[in-house]
Order: sequence, then C-alpha cells, then structure tokens
Amino acid sequence: SIERTLVLVKPDGVSRNLSGAVLARIEAKGYTLAELKKVDATREQLEQHYAEHAGKPFYEPLVEFMLSGPVVAAIFEGDRVVEGFRALAGTTDPTTAAPGTIRGDFGRDWGLKVQQNLVHGSDSVESAEREIGIWFA
Ligand code: CMP
Repeated sequence: SIERTLVLVKPDGVSRNLSGAVLARIEAKGYTLAELKKVDATREQLEQHYAEHAGKPFYEPLVEFMLSGPVVAAIFEGDRVVEGFRALAGTTDPTTAAPGTIRGDFGRDWGLKVQQNLVHGSDSVESAEREIGIWFA
C-alpha cells in the first residue's frame, strides 16, 4: 500500500553538495517527492527525532553533528517506500554499506565519534508519521 517516509540528507551530504544526487536516486527508483525543504534543525527537533537513542554513547555527538549545518528534509511517497528507501540507503556503517547504495557509494568512516552516513530514513510507517510531524509541522 502507499506509504510516506521521512528522508533527511544529513549535514555531511548537504555540505558535500550531494543533496541533488541523493534525491535523484530516490526519484529514479520511482518514488514521488511530496515535500522538500532545507532547514537548520533545532536541538529540540533533534531530541524528539532521536529520542530512542537518548543515553547512547553516540547520542550527543549525533545531535551536535546534526546541528553542524543545514539538512534537507523530504517526504517521499510510494508503495513500500519505508523499506524501499532503507534498502536504497544501505546499512548504517558507510564503510561496509553495500556498493550501489547511497551510503555505500558516497560514504566512508571519517574516524569521528558519529557515523556520518549521509541520510536518514524512517524505520517504520509509524516512525515516518511521527517524524513527519517533527520536520513538517
Ligand atoms: P541513523 O540510523 O540514521 O540514526 C542514528 C544515527 O546514529 C545513525 O544513523 C548514525 O549516524 C549514528 N550511529 C548509529 N550507531 C552508531 C555508532 N555505533 N557509532 C556512531 N554513530 C552511530
């Protein structure tokens, strides 16, 4: 059935001028862009967005990283887009993410406290609706 998912191009992707390349791959797979904006995230937004990671060792570096520059937020629509985008993004660690995926093709480990892995994608339909409310209130 038709789903929506929240995609964020993280600050590493935006600063490396890869936003367009990332969005083009999602469109090329056949998903439909419904909303798009460039935004300076607030700490409050990020604390809501990453609530499930609060207390983990990478949490504070993750929030700082996401505050380090603008992000591009998008809503994409399509059949099984939640799973489909996660497959397109690749696994969390960009060093070992499969070639052909966004993280596998554009990312690597930079030896930092947080994995700068270019994109975020909602992990379920329920998360997507929650996250869309945070970024497109
Ligand atoms: P994502 O899966 O989009 O959301 C959580 C983010 O935290 C993840 O991308 C990475 O950017 C980061 N992350 C997750 N696990 C680790 C880890 N073990 N070490 C560093 N950063 C991580």
